[in-house]
Amino acid sequence: MKIMIIGSEGMLGNDLVNVLSKEHEVSTTTIDTLDITDIDKTIKTVKNNKPDVLIHAAAYTDVDASESNPDLAYKVNALGTRNVAVACYEAKCAMVYICTDYVFNGTKNTPYKEYDQTNPLGVYGKTKHAGETYIHDILNKFYIVRTSWLYGYHGPNFVTTMLNLAKTNDSISIVNDQIGSPTYTVDLAKAIALLIKKPSYGIYHVTNSEYCSWFEFAKEIFKQAQVEVDLKPVTTEEFQRPAPRPKYSVLENYNWKMEGYPKIRSYKEALTDYLKLL
Ligand SMILES: NC(=O)c1ccc[n+]([C@@H]2O[C@H](COP(=O)([O-])OP(=O)(O)OC[C@H]3O[C@@H](n4cnc5c(N)ncnc54)[C@H](OP(=O)(O)O)[C@@H]3O)[C@@H](O)[C@H]2O)c1
Repeated sequence: MKIMIIGSEGMLGNDLVNVLSKEHEVSTTTIDTLDITDIDKTIKTVKNNKPDVLIHAAAYTDVDASESNPDLAYKVNALGTRNVAVACYEAKCAMVYICTDYVFNGTKNTPYKEYDQTNPLGVYGKTKHAGETYIHDILNKFYIVRTSWLYGYHGPNFVTTMLNLAKTNDSISIVNDQIGSPTYTVDLAKAIALLIKKPSYGIYHVTNSEYCSWFEFAKEIFKQAQVEVDLKPVTTEEFQRPAPRPKYSVLENYNWKMEGYPKIRSYKEALTDYLKLL
């Protein structure tokens, strides 16, 4: 198939290119070659590429900065996604949109299914959710892939932040009351490669299995990396951030399971593979 990847220089975008190039003809754009806030250029570029499937992995991803830059977050995440959807409509291709666990408010205490009520708390989640709505309105051939707590080789992430902090601090305070599923970008890219083989369009939750708090994730990182550091669990209230975050945003890979896809490995196994690259 001909696959076009928008946002190919991002953390996930890089792994999508690596995974999909093995079996498809892949073309890419970065923010320098295509700014998705330009609707005319977006339509023209996608129509010129004539992909069978377009994967939209570009976004304004700074959750905290979105609170003070809501217009930029909306322009990229909502209107930019609308532009990509219109381009896919004109080019008659299927679209994959990467979305987030932050579309939920986190008050449920069991894993969120794809059909659970969305209710984002912060600007980032709201603008990403607005992107979903545009896709529903414009397209009928789409996969909305909601994922969470991404880390990968090609971008700054929680794992590298922890390992770097441990170099200069004897003690690190980590939030212990936000629960989610850390997800390795290589595993997500492989799952997307499977999804696009069939026209089973719709919303998919795609994360590594099992879940933890950020504190538990940090403990696992240092255990596997064999680094000694004193970790202090703190509450969200004690660790104030500009953006509100859901307390519980575990995504159940329900649609994935219902479509018969194999269970995705645990975040601990995935972490082991990732740490080998560092
Ligand atoms: N990271 C997570 O924990 C997480 C969790 C759930 C869902 N997601 C979603 O997963 C996707 C990939 O995330 P990621 O962590 O790989 O993000 P990332 O590393 O920040 O990559 C996003 C890419 O989009 C580009 N971009 C920003 N504005 C653009 C524009 N106007 N036009 C074209 N490109 C633009 C960025 O370029 P610059 O770097 O030059 O700005 C960057 O290369 C995103 O949709 C994100 O919302 C991420």
